[in-house]
Amino acid sequence: MMKVPLSRPYKTENAIEYIRDVISSPYISSGPYIKRFEEYISKISGAKYAVSCSSGTAGLHLAVKALGIGDGDEVITTPYSFIATSNVILYERAMPVFCDVEPEHLNLSYERVKECIEKTYIWHDGALKNRYTGRILKAIMPVHIYGYPADMKGFIELAEKYNLKVIEDSAEALGSYISINGRMHMAGTIGDAGIYAFYANKQITTGEGGVVVTNNVKIRDYVLSVRNQGRSLTSSWLVHEKVGYNYRMSALNAALGLSQLEHLPEIVSKRREAFKRYEELLREVDEIELFREEDGVKTNWFVFVIRFRHMELRDKVMNYLRDKGIETRPYFDPPLHLQPVYKNILPYKRGDFPVAEEASKRVLALPFFTGISHEEQIYVVKTLKQGIVKVA
Ligand SMILES: Cc1ncc(COP(=O)(O)O)c(C=O)c1O
Repeated sequence: MMKVPLSRPYKTENAIEYIRDVISSPYISSGPYIKRFEEYISKISGAKYAVSCSSGTAGLHLAVKALGIGDGDEVITTPYSFIATSNVILYERAMPVFCDVEPEHLNLSYERVKECIEKTYIWHDGALKNRYTGRILKAIMPVHIYGYPADMKGFIELAEKYNLKVIEDSAEALGSYISINGRMHMAGTIGDAGIYAFYANKQITTGEGGVVVTNNVKIRDYVLSVRNQGRSLTSSWLVHEKVGYNYRMSALNAALGLSQLEHLPEIVSKRREAFKRYEELLREVDEIELFREEDGVKTNWFVFVIRFRHMELRDKVMNYLRDKGIETRPYFDPPLHLQPVYKNILPYKRGDFPVAEEASKRVLALPFFTGISHEEQIYVVKTLKQGIVKVA
């Protein structure tokens, strides 16, 4: 029986060379590879500054802190994401306020956010105050879920109107673009700060790692200091000005990341080909729906997700595929507001976000990675079709 994993990291030839270079140098923690990695991210993303860190979660946490979000504050975000999105808000004793997603691409809905602001907040001393909790709305945190860009134009308009910050959780969206006022921008570089993540399932991996991108030098300096134990940027190594963290990326991770970044065009084109192949192979499978790319948007082919028209089929087909050696994931089930950890922390219940809840029961991520072979994809689709017939 063929075994097909959900994800498999892609290793380029120069990886070993770069890692050997780091090991044989005196710089295995910090050093030149960190700088080269950051400069590469800044160049390809178009953001003025890129600061590497130990994970996407660490990057998001630093962005939340850099924007001054803390006790007594609220941040609007999506319930349809990975849990790091809302956890980093809670780390700072602020509260995530969820708004439902739009049904097409399952990103935070501009309409729902606008409605939530208008119904829930009052304008008070130059800020939006929650009429029920008394807390202040400080920011919107859209997530480009599955690498598909959220409605950044809409969120920036709301932020400008109501004096809010925008943090983009672009963990999944390196290489995705959205057109704003006739110009293509990489997702993650439009708000005040954005992050990319480099866990092994991402297009570019550093093993573990993340990066904060911003065009604001104050945010860059804050993140540089706080990722590095709150060290002063101008005086000696043991002078600390803030309570910081060790959120640094190591040079070994940066070397792996750089080796991959230098092959980004090849990686993107392989993923695009594999994506199109799945689309072709799945075209006549009536029981599922595929996501579509709209005008003015360019996705990065991060994951391949299908949606079952009948939700009862999803888990049965998933189990069938598992028994045939194919790993898939109900990505994201449960949605954040129904996560057990939040039961006694956040004021949400089943039924609050119907679009996210329904999607979480219909979606399934199929095996998808840079080096997936034609044979593997054919096996996945053949078995999926068999599964649908057998379990229906
Ligand atoms: C949407 C989203 N946000 C945040 C993260 C956190 O990134 P990391 O696992 O590098 O901490 C992920 C990770 O996959 C993610 O998918």
